[in-house]
Amino acid sequence: MMKFGIVCVSDRCSQGIYEDKSGPAIEEIIKPLAHEIKYLTVPDEKEDISAALITLADDFKADIVLTTGGTGFAPRDVTPEATESVIERRAPGISEAVRMKSLAITPKAMLSRAVSGIRGKTLIINLPGSPKAVRESLEVIMPVFEHAVETMSGKTISCGRNEN
Ligand code: MTE
Repeated sequence: MMKFGIVCVSDRCSQGIYEDKSGPAIEEIIKPLAHEIKYLTVPDEKEDISAALITLADDFKADIVLTTGGTGFAPRDVTPEATESVIERRAPGISEAVRMKSLAITPKAMLSRAVSGIRGKTLIINLPGSPKAVRESLEVIMPVFEHAVETMSGKTISCGRNEN
């Protein structure tokens, strides 16, 4: 079981103009893997997004933080930049896998600038903003969550060596 952080990045959701549907979609999907979930909503401001990620990684000590929204080309889409400013090690394979699988569903997957990376012992992953995209993306990456967290903890030292 893992500890999850969820960050809904949206000007409208943070102002209460629009009800977030992607955060609850994430919550529902990860629930079977989670022993604790902390959920934050922030506007599309780099400083607010970075602060939420730092809180969830350093104070709440989430194993995995999933963001939703703000990864596209709109002028206020800055989630990738905020994430890059707080991660210590990049984990590009995760976002590459999501884009690759998502391209089979929609060419618009090319428009996601999502990034993934590690801060301390927390894996931070950007997801696009729609509930549909969230579900499609999580289906791709959830199978590696447990192994990712195990290896980040430093407990797994012979990763893959027992496989022929
Ligand atoms: N990925 C999947 N799997 N399914 C989708 O429907 N939508 C795309 C893309 N990635 C989509 C997807 C669209 S329309 C955009 S604009 C980008 O994600 C960025 O989304 P965001 O700005 O909401 O983060």
